[in-house]
Amino acid sequence: MKKQYYSLYIHIPWCLKKCPYCDFYSVIITDNNLYENIKLKYINNLLLDLDNDLLFLKKKIYIKSIFFGGGTPSLISGKLISYLLNEITKKVYIKKTAEITIETNPSSINKQNIIEYKKSGINRISIGVQSFNDISLKLLGRIHSAKDAINAINTVIDNDLINFNIDLIYGIPGQSLKSAKNDLYQTLSFNPKHISWYQLTIEPNTIFGKYKPKNLPKYNILWKIFKEGNKILQQYGYINYEISSYAKEDIFKCKHNLNYWNFGDYIGIGCSAHGKFTMSNKTIIRTVKNSNITKYMNGYYLFSSNKIKDCDKTFEFFLNKFRILEKFSKKEFTSITGINIHSIHSHIKKSEKLGYIKYDKNDFIITKKGYLFLNNLLEIFI
Ligand SMILES: C[S@@+](CC[C@H](N)C(=O)[O-])C[C@H]1O[C@@H](n2cnc3c(N)ncnc32)[C@H](O)[C@@H]1O
Ligand code: SF4
Repeated sequence: MKKQYYSLYIHIPWCLKKCPYCDFYSVIITDNNLYENIKLKYINNLLLDLDNDLLFLKKKIYIKSIFFGGGTPSLISGKLISYLLNEITKKVYIKKTAEITIETNPSSINKQNIIEYKKSGINRISIGVQSFNDISLKLLGRIHSAKDAINAINTVIDNDLINFNIDLIYGIPGQSLKSAKNDLYQTLSFNPKHISWYQLTIEPNTIFGKYKPKNLPKYNILWKIFKEGNKILQQYGYINYEISSYAKEDIFKCKHNLNYWNFGDYIGIGCSAHGKFTMSNKTIIRTVKNSNITKYMNGYYLFSSNKIKDCDKTFEFFLNKFRILEKFSKKEFTSITGINIHSIHSHIKKSEKLGYIKYDKNDFIITKKGYLFLNNLLEIFI
């Protein structure tokens, strides 16, 4: 039987300060040094959480990518990450070429942890820079300065962690086209293998959601930033393979995220983490872990585990697939979801008629118009 590869997401639920735009689950810790014992306890809980998922899956699990996300995973020392990865290796088979990423905040990057991360097996690092402009960083509530970000990137480069990503945000309050382009040019001067260039979204359950920031760039400025920025990134040789993702070469496309966008299966451990398992009869199970850290630390890992209904499966499949700019086959739709393509014939015809997708006998591809009106396109599949 063909081996099925999973991705593994590990959520680290701490930050030193909550950024007003961010709705990822995290708990604020004021003194990082006081938390060593709590972190070890959390990591041991992560291992038990993984055991429960493996018990449910009842088979040998092969892992093709691991992603430490947060929160701020760089608040965890290299030694603890090493311990965790070692223990995980005893439970699952990790592919030799697996991509292992850690998300970091520039304020918690230093030579020692970079060296230790590398030793532990981490081979990709994502740096949350967001901007190189100190005023923008203040407006985003970041705890680091542009200088801290530059030092952090240089520490990663000097220690030969060549596969690094820089996270940038545009559409920051008061941001001009010139300032957004400056952020991109500064980023490009480090020649990162990958850039995630996100438009600031105002999430409902955040400080920005409650008190909408003044001076958000208007639609016409945002459009100019996107158009000109996208052109600059492509001129510098970056492949725009997903709405916000740019890779220097195919091999540097983020394998972990591609697995989500290709609607692949993954195990999610840690507070608030999600997982997706396809069973042999094509039933898809979605797991959600507890986002109450006290309950989680007391062994209540699973918050919910539900079968995805067929109509939701179709929507979720396209929600992910339409993010990547590659064609995909109707066979793939059926083999992944177990749903006959004929049952969505009218949705496809409507999307095609409105110019959102191109569709022939075998393949789908999203058009430029579909990309621009992604929400309208997805509504057709609800
Ligand atoms: C979960 S954060 C983890 C990174 C790390 N904790 C840090 O911020 O330094 C991952 C990335 O999501 C992006 N992000 C989070 N909330 C966002 C929002 N509301 N709009 C746009 N990008 C956002 C940021 O670029 C951030 O670097
Ligand atoms: S953006 Fe990063 S540092 Fe800021 S609150 Fe979210 S996870 Fe924490």
